[in-house]
Amino acid sequence: MKILICDKTEKEYIEQMRAAGLTVDVRDDITPEELPNVLPAYDGMVVRSRTKVRQPLIDVCPNLKVIVRGGVGLDTIDHEYAKSKGIAVMNTPLANSISVAELTIGYMFMLARSLYKASATMKAEKWDKKSFDGDEIGGKTLGLIGVGNIGRETAKRAVALGMKVVAYDPYVKEVEGVKMVALDELLAEADYISLHLPKTKESADMIGAEQFAKMKKGVRIINCARGGIIKEDALYEALTSGKVAGAALDVFAEEPPTDWKLLKLDNVIASPHIGAATREAQGRVGAEVAQKLINFAKK
Ligand SMILES: NC(=O)c1ccc[n+]([C@@H]2O[C@H](COP(=O)([O-])OP(=O)(O)OC[C@H]3O[C@@H](n4cnc5c(N)ncnc54)[C@H](O)[C@@H]3O)[C@@H](O)[C@H]2O)c1
Repeated sequence: MKILICDKTEKEYIEQMRAAGLTVDVRDDITPEELPNVLPAYDGMVVRSRTKVRQPLIDVCPNLKVIVRGGVGLDTIDHEYAKSKGIAVMNTPLANSISVAELTIGYMFMLARSLYKASATMKAEKWDKKSFDGDEIGGKTLGLIGVGNIGRETAKRAVALGMKVVAYDPYVKEVEGVKMVALDELLAEADYISLHLPKTKESADMIGAEQFAKMKKGVRIINCARGGIIKEDALYEALTSGKVAGAALDVFAEEPPTDWKLLKLDNVIASPHIGAATREAQGRVGAEVAQKLINFAKK
């Protein structure tokens, strides 16, 4: 079986696939323009979030049998269409959970203590002890929207830090240590709101002006899930009016953003979609991708 690796994958696992008899070519800088000319020669492809697999690409690859996405979301692949063409589509659902949960917890501490601002003043050679009165996160309420793998890992850590955790997830009945609530109840109660749900037709734009109006004044928001679930214009308004005290964003409606207005606000911290960017998660992703392809080839 011939496999094309389209996005960065750890060398160790590429060698594992080769040792198992797969022919593996690495083109981890391949462009969308090059793909339709190159991919038809392959039986399988490995992608992360950089390479998008849309219907027109699938249409020119009649020999393609398997797409493996290293990561959680399948929103970068027209997966239903691929499946309708008999192509198996797989992902690595558990590999990133702890890394994203840890980023979320780290962001809560940064927001609570304004660490990003304190650090910036020190770099500017200012000793400003008066501007950084923070809050403890112990005793506060964390509201999780979506409580699947990452939401649960986040909940465990938040409970251990002494937080009360409530969650809204219409597809989950119970989670240990978490009170399941309606969305409006979560919005009204939470001191921190963190998103851990996929972007779907149902969840796109689900947090807008109406939802911000229902939140506590001074709430802090974290989004390490997907851009486009929170309306960015409404978040901008809520951050400038003081309704939302701070936001930490790892994901954006457009990546990279073309409008940086939201990111330039003083009470916003951000990162370039690095939730899964740890050595441990990358290792787990590589191992799972290799194993899935090796198993698929044996069938
Ligand atoms: N920042 C990053 O680098 C990064 C890395 C990995 C995953 N993610 C994102 O995090 C999200 C969560 O990942 P996961 O591994 O926990 O996925 P998961 O599938 O285990 O959990 C998602 C949860 O969201 C719930 N859900 C679906 N629609 C909902 C809705 N409308 N309202 C409330 N809940 C809803 C589901 O029932 C499920 O329990 C993924 O969709 C992915 O987009 C981001």
